[in-house]
Amino acid sequence: MFNRTVLGRSIRSAQWIRHNSSKVAPLDASRLTIEKTTTPKPKLPNDQLVFGKTFTDHMLEIEWTKEKGWDVPKISPYHNLSLDPSTIVFHYAFELFEGMKAYKDANGLIRTFRGDKNMIRMNNSAERIALPKFDGEELQKLIDKLLVLDQDFVPEGKGYSLYLRPTMIGTSASLGVGTPDRALLYVIASPVGPYYSSGFKPVSLEATDYAVRAWPGGVGDKKLGANYAPCIKPQLEAAQRGFQQNLWLFGDEGYITEVGTMNVFFAFENDDGTKELVTAPLDGMILPGVTRDSILELCRERLPKDEWTISERKFTIHEVEEKAKKGQLIEAFGAGTAAVVSPINHIGFRGRGIDVPVSLGTSGDLTATVAEWIRQIQYGEREYKNWSRVAQ
Ligand code: COI
Repeated sequence: MFNRTVLGRSIRSAQWIRHNSSKVAPLDASRLTIEKTTTPKPKLPNDQLVFGKTFTDHMLEIEWTKEKGWDVPKISPYHNLSLDPSTIVFHYAFELFEGMKAYKDANGLIRTFRGDKNMIRMNNSAERIALPKFDGEELQKLIDKLLVLDQDFVPEGKGYSLYLRPTMIGTSASLGVGTPDRALLYVIASPVGPYYSSGFKPVSLEATDYAVRAWPGGVGDKKLGANYAPCIKPQLEAAQRGFQQNLWLFGDEGYITEVGTMNVFFAFENDDGTKELVTAPLDGMILPGVTRDSILELCRERLPKDEWTISERKFTIHEVEEKAKKGQLIEAFGAGTAAVVSPINHIGFRGRGIDVPVSLGTSGDLTATVAEWIRQIQYGEREYKNWSRVAQ
């Protein structure tokens, strides 16, 4: 039921209080039930893997209702969902998702990378669109079970992984605009290779200033499906003009925010010869990327402090243009779960071109270094804090 009228709202909010005083079930991984497939799918060789096109044998689902809370978690054979055409997700975009990856290490163990960060972000997204929150550690335990069951689908090799897509949708069947009283949390998994079919190659960007990805007070810092569909058209327009991705600007100042569906980093040289790695600050418009956070932390820890400053600050396309003119633009790259890091070699802006150096041919030196630092942790070659979790 939905709160459609002011009167209805006041009556139902009283019910809601009573309802909340009774106990609703938390998400509990120990209640998991597993139904295994009787028709296992063939595993594709690495060279036939296309991002997000094929899926493992099983999926995880947990239903939630306002009355009872989180139901029994179920792992069952991968299947279609059956939803009433009026279901609220189809009309008002009650949908959020995460992107995580699982890696096979040299001992055949399956590892996820900083899943706790994804759980925090997923709960923040849920809270913003009135979907239920949950205990992130319990979801991680359930994801571990799915990974153990489908471990033969995790491809081996550098650049190969199992992309995990935790998703939550509002499933109340009603056209009323209101708080969902039913939801479905599910996780599917897709064996993947490098995100771009071209592999680790630099991309050219068109700086978009006629459309914005996010705005102050909006939801750009939440991983909502509704943030992604409106990004396609500017990307298509950039592609028509020969660019591979678009660089999102904001405001008359031309602040650089993100690139495509990724966070973006620029490395500058200062007049005194020191260097700065800069990315936009988490001001509510920027997605708090796990890769972004990892790069910032590793660079702050590992780059020489007398040589590098690591900045989260506002910076503009004009600053990048100036730096390039002065020969002080060192390199630039996008950062996200899907592509990890994506080198940039050119930016088109209002008919002008900014060439971004790629000192190693396919990327800049720092881009390659951070990509390798992260890869070593993801594949369990180097332990770092609790960033890599073995599924069991
Ligand atoms: C990522 O870079 O991790 C993304 O968010 C891309 C994804 C939407 C495919």
